[in-house]
Amino acid sequence: MTIIGIDVGTTAVKAILVDEAQTLLASASVPHPTLSPVHGVREQEPDGWIRAVEAALAEVRQAAPEAYGRVAAIGLSGQMHSLVTLDKDHRPLRNAILWNDGRGAEECAELTAAVPDIAEITGVIAMPGLSAGKAAWLRKHEPELFGRIAVVMLAKDYVRLWLTGEVVTDMSDAAGTQMFDERARTWSERVVAAVGLRPDQLPRLVEGTDVSGELLPSVAAKLGLSAGIPVAGGGGDGGTGAAGIGCVETGQGFLSLGTAGVYVVAQDRYAPKPETLVHNFAHCVPGRWFQMGALLNGASPLAWLMKVLGESDTDAELAAVGKDYGAPSPVIFLPYLTGERTPHDDPDARGAFFGLDQATTRTEMVQAVLEGVAYSLRDAQDCLDAAGAIVERPGFLGGGSKSRLWARIIATVLERPLVRYRGADLGPALGAARMAIIAKTGASVVDVCTAPEEEETIMPDPDLVPAYREKQAIFRKLYRAERATRRD
Ligand code: XUL
Repeated sequence: MTIIGIDVGTTAVKAILVDEAQTLLASASVPHPTLSPVHGVREQEPDGWIRAVEAALAEVRQAAPEAYGRVAAIGLSGQMHSLVTLDKDHRPLRNAILWNDGRGAEECAELTAAVPDIAEITGVIAMPGLSAGKAAWLRKHEPELFGRIAVVMLAKDYVRLWLTGEVVTDMSDAAGTQMFDERARTWSERVVAAVGLRPDQLPRLVEGTDVSGELLPSVAAKLGLSAGIPVAGGGGDGGTGAAGIGCVETGQGFLSLGTAGVYVVAQDRYAPKPETLVHNFAHCVPGRWFQMGALLNGASPLAWLMKVLGESDTDAELAAVGKDYGAPSPVIFLPYLTGERTPHDDPDARGAFFGLDQATTRTEMVQAVLEGVAYSLRDAQDCLDAAGAIVERPGFLGGGSKSRLWARIIATVLERPLVRYRGADLGPALGAARMAIIAKTGASVVDVCTAPEEEETIMPDPDLVPAYREKQAIFRKLYRAERATRRD
């Protein structure tokens, strides 16, 4: 038996094929575009995800045809908080609005006025970027379209609909809609009503480890898979990323630098601390939750700088920083290119370089970007600590974790060792495959969701800690100054 895990990420769809022992047999990553016509707007075409899934699976099939012929289950993961709106024939009414879209701040304030305990119910204060605020925004700004909505769902669930014909989501992705009662693991009728939706417009809920539906014969024939194989509930990428690295027990945690940055700590109970701006969401495995610092700018500010510099060799730029690295850059960078959630709830926050000098070099600016992301992770860590979600040795995953230099900087700024795992680059796609293994075989979560082998521990550099603490204080002042330019 082999298993497919699919992660509908923000920049690409990733598909992996593993055997029952979770050994990787093939993988593929197919990019898809984000449409950002004006500042603050970020959308994707739902059918673009399907095309990318088809292309990724075709690549996997070509790489391992025999193993692909033995696929017995599929698991799904995806970017969280997207708002996909479908008509009565289950066709998209418009492009999906993404997690890093800044619209809906006013509507979030209105939701909070209508449901004063919304943060206690949904695990975090009402923030733009989560589905509820976006749906409320649509109701106000595109009322005719809003009236034609038959179903709202999330990115990976649109792929599930295509695979199985089922309108289903899992608890961890439902958690990110801000319409979910996290404690009871069910839709919150009060919040749903405040948004202007009805419960029948929302997907059926399953745990990530449950079977959500079976592969339709027409789609199976197209993909070269067996009709009727189960598709597991899966999870939003916070949950599947956690499951993929074995982060399911209280106190286990990791940080991941993908397009976004997340800092996740697992818990065995729901214990919201919304005032800290961390998100307390249902995990994709039953009976578990997690606290999460959600950063809208993870590895993406580095990709942005490379684009601005017209540079395609990021490794060479990082090597140049590493060559003489021995102190924080004199330049400080605010990484808020797409606003920020934890700890600011500020969709309008923007980036800045501070401390430029006639002598400033390109290398100092690249280093400043690495450090700016590290400072924002430290802010998130302080929020998690305040929420009681303390992790002594966080795992470090995602595209950004490939750089040892970045890992060293982050470990020093966080003042905590970071653990890099072997094979951790499979990330949420592995978590999705693990959900499928459990759904198919009935194996236990603890047996399947184990921690990968540790590759190395990156220790903080004690000599640099005092200098980084000073810079962190300036970084915080700079954000307050940036905000003052907009609010004073
Ligand atoms: C988490 C978040 C992002 C997206 C995109 O809250 O907004 O991590 O899930 O991956």
